[in-house]
Amino acid sequence: MNSHNRETAITARDLRKTYDKKVDALKHMSLDVRKGEVFTILGPNGAGKTTFLRILCTQLMPTSGEAHILGKSVLSEPEAVRETIAMVPQDAMAYANFTPWDYAYNFCLLRGMDKAKSRKNAEESLKAMLMWDMKDKPCQSMSGGEKRRALIAATLASDAQVMMLDEPTSGLDAIGRRNVWSALRDRAAQGKTIILTTHMMDEAEMVSDRLAIINKGELIIVGTTSEIKKKVPFRYRVIVPESEIDKSKFTEMTKIGDRLVIYLKTDEEAIELVRDMLRKGVQAEAAPVTLEDAFVRLAGGELQ
Ligand SMILES: Nc1ncnc2c1ncn2[C@@H]1O[C@H](COP(=O)(O)OP(=O)(O)OP(=O)(O)O)[C@@H](O)[C@H]1O
Ligand SMILES: [Mg+2]
Repeated sequence: MNSHNRETAITARDLRKTYDKKVDALKHMSLDVRKGEVFTILGPNGAGKTTFLRILCTQLMPTSGEAHILGKSVLSEPEAVRETIAMVPQDAMAYANFTPWDYAYNFCLLRGMDKAKSRKNAEESLKAMLMWDMKDKPCQSMSGGEKRRALIAATLASDAQVMMLDEPTSGLDAIGRRNVWSALRDRAAQGKTIILTTHMMDEAEMVSDRLAIINKGELIIVGTTSEIKKKVPFRYRVIVPESEIDKSKFTEMTKIGDRLVIYLKTDEEAIELVRDMLRKGVQAEAAPVTLEDAFVRLAGGELQ
């Protein structure tokens, strides 16, 4: 992807949010999101992801700092910002007697589209979310994942230049997740800017052009998946039973119950460890380090 000289869609500068004069949910957060990219925010529970998105979508005032969406200030031009964005909140509830069609179609009308365009967009996005055969079913008789897909469909239908989605796929099955990823990639290819949060590393890897890891209200790192993986000074991981291994031979590992994930710098080291294990009759496999390894190391600092 050619990301040079791209215009910026979202700029956040020194954003801070302190709740109740004591909880520092965001500390001087600065970040740029480019037009037409899918940008993912990863971070542990309580890291400040929702706080950040709520400030960007003008639902919450920051304690200090500033953010612009397509050049408009979220502080001094919130109405102008709202015209350019659509948001799927983390804890959004679908209204009981609304149908997916009601959501998507009326959302388009409310945003100023004519009826024909609203119908077209609602149909397209409901089909993309596999909700077309449920379009007239009241949300109260739907499953959790179906309600979530109805809300996502409404946001996709909106044609907003910037779409913000807070954990859009939490509670969705594998097929539902893939449909969301696919729809988000399609929108980005059309020039829309997408910012989302997730806890799923495979999702972040699959859907993002770039991602940010935040923790305790601070930005830890921004980059592509491969740039972030390179921050881990190891290339391979091998999972072994703790009882089968002489730990003193290795410098970096993570304990998961009775198992260890051993991190290794070279393929020779990885192959040697796998061979040792196989000689003992223990199943072991070497794999490249994952985004999750990088995340835990950068956000959790738990690897020793
Ligand atoms: N309305 C509020 N009043 C007081 N504290 C809050 C409020 N909302 C969030 N917080 C606190 O601010 C911090 C950041 O919360 P936030 O919801 O932004 O985290 P998050 O990264 O979205 O977490 P999660 O992954 O669990 O959704 C947390 O410590 C949280 O307890
Ligand atoms: Mg959240």
